[in-house]
Amino acid sequence: MGERPDIDLTRPSAARVYDYYLGGAHNFAVDREMARQAIGMWPELPLIMQANRAFLRRAVEHCSARGVRQFLDLGSGIPTAGNVHEVARAVDPGARVAYVDNDPIAVTYSKSILGDDPQTIAVQEDLRHPDAVLAAARDLLDLSQPVAVMMVAVLHFVTDEDGPADVVAAYRDAMAPGSHLVVSHATRDGQDDQADSHQDLYRQRTATPMTMRSHDQVRALLAGFDVVEPGVVHLPLWRPTSPEDVDEHPERFAGLAAVGRKP
Ligand SMILES: C[S@@+](CC[C@H](N)C(=O)[O-])C[C@H]1O[C@@H](n2cnc3c(N)ncnc32)[C@H](O)[C@@H]1O
Repeated sequence: MGERPDIDLTRPSAARVYDYYLGGAHNFAVDREMARQAIGMWPELPLIMQANRAFLRRAVEHCSARGVRQFLDLGSGIPTAGNVHEVARAVDPGARVAYVDNDPIAVTYSKSILGDDPQTIAVQEDLRHPDAVLAAARDLLDLSQPVAVMMVAVLHFVTDEDGPADVVAAYRDAMAPGSHLVVSHATRDGQDDQADSHQDLYRQRTATPMTMRSHDQVRALLAGFDVVEPGVVHLPLWRPTSPEDVDEHPERFAGLAAVGRKP
């Protein structure tokens, strides 16, 4: 990859640190150093990220089983095992997916993996700009039909000042009835000091400070959607489908998961 002015190699990026947690190779020394520091404080982080990816897979399968054939994946990250288009196409090879991330590396690798696939696009855009994101998505998706909008492990990078409820509402208003919103979100619920240290690390080191939210705060972000069973729950508790999805102590997975359906 040639040098790009928008790639900051002096600071860890949330996308590349997450890639490291998941065992990926698309990260730099500065990312690995921060990720190792985070894992040193909180050894379960890689497990938590795997549980998040497992939730994403189950949520895509859930939406697909309810007839959704188009997906808008916001904060899609660096491609890794079980990307949305792979899971959705196992159900229907005609499924279309628009990937959106504001991280240039994530979008570059997404484009290189997707190649000239006419059923996918990868767009570099900030999800806090719904008009721009929706305009780009309309190149591929027909928003008069149901769509699954995925906000998986990304809304905690939208600060309270940025008004996450208004951001979600802007997407909700553009979604057809029968559309779904898929959310996972970092939480302090059930955690101790390590969650605070983790939040502090992202505040100090990255351009994307993290805001963990409680069950009630995450539930409020799904306003206007019918939240499907089992509601807003810790990651492993959201419709587990295999023994690996289940855990005796689900609260140690510091993430809440939910799917809402627009009536
Ligand atoms: C923890 S990763 C989650 C990736 C994927 N959704 C998943 O759950 O496996 C968070 C991603 O959100 C992206 N991100 C953070 N803030 C964003 C924003 N305002 N707009 C678009 N993407 C954002 C980061 O670049 C990163 O790739």
